[in-house]
Amino acid sequence: MTTTLDVMNVLKTVMDPEIHRNVVDLNMVRDLVVDEDGNVSFMLALTIPDCPLREQIESDARRAVSSLPGVKKVHVTLGTMTEEERNKVFGIAPPKTVRDDVKQVIAIMSGKGGVGKSLVTGLLATALMRAGYKVGILDADVTGASIPKLFGIHGPLMATNNKIQPIQSRTGIKIISVNLAIENENTAFVWRGAMITQTIQQFWNDVNWGELDYLLLDMPPGTSDAALTVIQELPIKGILMVTSPQALATMVVRKAVDMAQKMNTSILGVIENMAGFTAPDTGMHYDIFGPSHAEEVAAAAGAPLLARLPITPNFAERCDAGEIEILPTEALDACVAALKLEPVAA
Ligand SMILES: Nc1ncnc2c1ncn2[C@@H]1O[C@H](COP(=O)(O)OP(=O)(O)O)[C@@H](O)[C@H]1O
Ligand SMILES: [Mg+2]
Repeated sequence: MTTTLDVMNVLKTVMDPEIHRNVVDLNMVRDLVVDEDGNVSFMLALTIPDCPLREQIESDARRAVSSLPGVKKVHVTLGTMTEEERNKVFGIAPPKTVRDDVKQVIAIMSGKGGVGKSLVTGLLATALMRAGYKVGILDADVTGASIPKLFGIHGPLMATNNKIQPIQSRTGIKIISVNLAIENENTAFVWRGAMITQTIQQFWNDVNWGELDYLLLDMPPGTSDAALTVIQELPIKGILMVTSPQALATMVVRKAVDMAQKMNTSILGVIENMAGFTAPDTGMHYDIFGPSHAEEVAAAAGAPLLARLPITPNFAERCDAGEIEILPTEALDACVAALKLEPVAA
């Protein structure tokens, strides 16, 4: 007769394709009942309710249990873990690979797209470069990779000795992005979670970054699976949150802040972008997106407000021309100082 132990053992062969651990170790199997007639029922508690891979996990589990001799019917229901349980799961994730040649990994995050996360990432890289640091950018926003465009660089990526070589910008910033790996930069990509995980892992493990003081990650927007993946996969020193004065953005940023705290990653600071517009002719300041909520966001994040970048038409122009590296970066000086690393001797 099939026992609960038999069922648990066979379920150990069923992997969560994204977390890369089996459903038993992840404590996903609940309420397991095996009756005398060989009917098996259990609940699978998924990490998130709308897990895109739920059907796969369910059918894998069903198939595994059905393969046991003596099993007649398999009844699987799907449920969701509590927040506490989910935190535990992510807390026991396999250790992240540390690279000796990359000193600090900083994630640039935002609650939603379009607040200027990529622009801030590019400007901050430029500011760090000017301060004498060795800088790289990993464009982890596989859904909207825009870093190569800001720097006016193009693929294809080349590999030597099985290591992918990053593309260097005019001032020597090392850049990796999916946009450099695909042939047509305008191709729209639909990325599944597992593909994103693999890509990020590859960009971290298989790229010849060389010695870097800072690796900046341009994160996927918001609290998507992709964003979670990046935080889980890489040894991130901390997060810089980019926000804009729009009330809605503020709300979503709070969600992202919440996520970062749950993932045990610290928020190093908040950067407000599109913080109004100062007319160059009259000097009048206009809060185009309404009054700033940056202080509020910073308070919610428990982190300092490090910079406020106004809307600067010239910024968008230079960025579109791939010339972000000629823009002024003084507005980010406090941010550079807050990241605290001694400049490397030339
Ligand atoms: N401070 C700013 N002044 C002017 N244009 C900006 C500013 N910040 C961002 N932009 C423009 O807004 C658009 C969205 O910025 P981007 O960095 O791509 O956002 P995200 O990465 O958050 O989606 C881009 O065209 C960018 O050039
Ligand atoms: Mg972007």
